Amino acid sequence: MTYLGIDIGTSGVKALLIDGDGRALGEASAPAVEPVRPHPGWSEQNPRDWWDATLAAVDKLRSSHPDQLSAVRGIGLSGHMHGATLLGRNDEVLRPCILWNDGRSAAECQEMETALPNLRQLAGNIAMPGFTAPKFAWVRKHEPEIYERIEKVLLPKAYVRLLLTGEHVEDMSDAAGTLWLDVQKRDWSDELLGVTGLSRDHMPRLVEGSAPSAQLKRDLAQRWGMEGTVTVAGGAGDNAAAACGIGAIRPGEGFVSLGTSGVLFVSNETFSPNTEGAVHAFCHAIPDTWHQMGVILSATDSLNWLSRITGKKQAELAGEAEARFKGPAEAIFLPYLSGERTPHNNAGARGSFTGLSQSTDAAEMAQAVMEGVTFAMRDCQRVLADAGTSINRLLAVGGGSKSALWLKMLATNLDIEIALPEDGDFGGALGAARLGLCAATGADPAEIMTMPPIKTTIAPDKNLSAAYSDQYARYRALYPAIEEARQ
Ligand code: XUL
Repeated sequence: MTYLGIDIGTSGVKALLIDGDGRALGEASAPAVEPVRPHPGWSEQNPRDWWDATLAAVDKLRSSHPDQLSAVRGIGLSGHMHGATLLGRNDEVLRPCILWNDGRSAAECQEMETALPNLRQLAGNIAMPGFTAPKFAWVRKHEPEIYERIEKVLLPKAYVRLLLTGEHVEDMSDAAGTLWLDVQKRDWSDELLGVTGLSRDHMPRLVEGSAPSAQLKRDLAQRWGMEGTVTVAGGAGDNAAAACGIGAIRPGEGFVSLGTSGVLFVSNETFSPNTEGAVHAFCHAIPDTWHQMGVILSATDSLNWLSRITGKKQAELAGEAEARFKGPAEAIFLPYLSGERTPHNNAGARGSFTGLSQSTDAAEMAQAVMEGVTFAMRDCQRVLADAGTSINRLLAVGGGSKSALWLKMLATNLDIEIALPEDGDFGGALGAARLGLCAATGADPAEIMTMPPIKTTIAPDKNLSAAYSDQYARYRALYPAIEEARQ
């Protein structure tokens, strides 16, 4: 028997096949149409694109690994979190999905917190524009004709699940990012739903990530040559799924992710909110476990931006920075190109470069971008520590972890060894496949979610620690000064 993980990312869908021992058998991916930004700070994508990319990725596996694909008995889904996918009658998509990195709903966040003063206690999180409920409140205010037709609100991977199975179901880890979940009780909160005029009828049914959610539709099973019942697991938000893929499910185990967004993720035994520092406190994908995250909105997306305006590829920029590296750059970059969540909770924040001179070139700017993202992750570590959380084990994941220099900057600034898995880039797909295995077989998640083989471990560079602490202090001083000047 085999198991399939499907990771629905903002830039594409990855499908990964594993065997019963969790070994990768094959993978395929398909790009999604890039999100559109109809206004500065907005970010939208058409849900149909996720479905087209899902079909394309699994169809590719059908061509490359027909026998292994026909042996699939369990499917797990991982997806980018928080997106408001609004469905009308007969599950018709009413408008493009407003994505996790869309900052339009700051006013609605304030209105929600005023209307429900104990919102932070209930949700365990600040109302941030990244979350689903404020996006929904924005539609209610600005697009009443759409709002009136809304029958269901789904997250991106629940929409893909709907097309795979015909059922409206969501898992706890992704549901926690809506701001409608009582994260401690692992149940929808009538009070939180009520503040945006919704009821449980608008929500999908809830299951744990490692539990069965529904079964694959017959016509799709036939298309992919699968026989018998194929169970679709609850799955997980992409970060909890990545944690399942690298075995970060026990307290203190975590990862740093350099993807489009940047994430510092730590598993917790109990629900542990710290709303002051804009820490995200969510359910994990495993029953009775929770996790915290610091989330920054532009990690590799900052390098992507530099790549667009310099015409050099991201890897080329990172390589040039590495070749010239001698210590902290003179230039300092604040990576708030899409606003920021942790620690500032400011959708209106914007990026900046300071310390430019006639000799600043693209390589130095690339180094400053990588350092700015690193300092933003150091901010995340600081507010997680304020919440009493210490990290015992940290793995690196995401596209940016291919850069040895970036990992050295992170290890030095976070002052912790960082382990790099042999296959660094499975993302949420491996965790999703493991959740599919658990749901189909009833296996104990603790036995399945193991740490992958490690390629290398990067230690902090003590020779750079003091220089980086000084540069971090300068970086921290810039945000309040620049924000004040922008008012
Ligand atoms: C987490 C978050 C992002 C998205 C995109 O809160 O918004 O990590 O899940 O991958």
